[in-house]
Amino acid sequence: MAERGLRVGVIGAGAMGRGIAQVAASAGHSVLLADANAGVAEQARAAVAKALDRDVEKKRRTRPEADQVLARIVDAGDVSGGYEAFRGCGLVIEAVVERLDVKQTLFSALEQVMTPEAVLATNTSSLSVAAIAGACARPGRVLGIHFFNPAPVMPLVEIVPAITTEPAVTDRVKSLITGWGKTTVVATDTPGFIVNRVARPFYGESLRQLEEGVADIATIDWAMRELGGFRMGPFELMDFIGNDVNYAVTQSVFESFFYDPRYTPALTQRRLVEAGLYGRKRDRGYYDYRDGAARPEPTRDEALGRAILDRTLAMLVNEAVDAVHRRVASPDDIETAMTRGVNYPRGLLAWGDAIGPATILHQLEALQEEYGEDRYRPSVLLRRRVRERRPLLS
Ligand code: NAI
Repeated sequence: MAERGLRVGVIGAGAMGRGIAQVAASAGHSVLLADANAGVAEQARAAVAKALDRDVEKKRRTRPEADQVLARIVDAGDVSGGYEAFRGCGLVIEAVVERLDVKQTLFSALEQVMTPEAVLATNTSSLSVAAIAGACARPGRVLGIHFFNPAPVMPLVEIVPAITTEPAVTDRVKSLITGWGKTTVVATDTPGFIVNRVARPFYGESLRQLEEGVADIATIDWAMRELGGFRMGPFELMDFIGNDVNYAVTQSVFESFFYDPRYTPALTQRRLVEAGLYGRKRDRGYYDYRDGAARPEPTRDEALGRAILDRTLAMLVNEAVDAVHRRVASPDDIETAMTRGVNYPRGLLAWGDAIGPATILHQLEALQEEYGEDRYRPSVLLRRRVRERRPLLS
């Protein structure tokens, strides 16, 4: 992709769009930013200005640099009459509301004005990139560029070619985004891509253990944090992400996998969402964040903690191995995605090798035997690797 002089369009100036605009402008591109709602792009620019001010205060960039970055972001103004202003953009990234019909309508309107070489990208977390591309006359130039929130801070970007994407487009976009200073991985167009798929058991298996009374939230969080080395425990993290958001992702992955029981959402989380206990943003979730609320103490029982960690890790490693088996991404990209995208203390395949693939397999078989649930079925590739005495990361 002609890096120099490439104009980037960002449509949807909400939480993600504004961050993506900042990233592209920081990389030197002029950025055209639009939103369907009046005033949102201007608010977004103001938010970027504030973020840049903080960078200057923290000496992450100089004042002139910050001013230049902001000056590169231009508000496209009223787009109700169409997207004519985007004609000169070589790449447009959409970060509008997560609805297939809205994204399809947007892309087919954009195509009317864009040059044939221009690339159209979606930041969708859960929709099929193929379905979005399917609305376009030239689906070969459509792909997913999945940033993490907040886009300026999170290093990982998943590049998601659809079945119709031209390989040259994927390569161009991967090198472009890498040039923006991001760590890029390539994922197939499958539900949850890499991170949102492989991370499901971190939440799901913790919720199962909570529901079964294995331990309380504080103890499960303690075990995963202190014994597992995860930066946050699953319940703290769900409260941080928002239970509404986390539940919606789980539900979407579950439905998109034709209701595979491995991804079954937890009723406990559903009830929290129904009750409006979204987590930090509502002051209440699994924990109570209101002033003066007591923080529950964990039971620091190491044997119990190890059992919680081992069960969750076995499920996580299995999910990562299965993602390799189903060719969601290369083993290296899966390791990178989990360490860079969600800060796991180590890659799950390497972690599985350290524990021992046979140990993981044995744990899963014991769970499947005891519960009689397909949820715990070991990946075929895990069985194969154990039989062949080969490592998982190879
Ligand atoms: P948001 O609700 O903060 O922003 C969406 C913006 O799009 C709103 O300002 C809305 O006015 C605008 N919009 C809606 N329809 C439009 C249209 N037809 N044309 C132009 N603008 C339109 O949502 P957020 O969180 O920024 O998400 C945007 C996209 O990014 C979604 O596809 C979401 O799945 C994805 N995403 C979200 C992440 C997150 O953590 N919030 C992480 C990664 C991806």
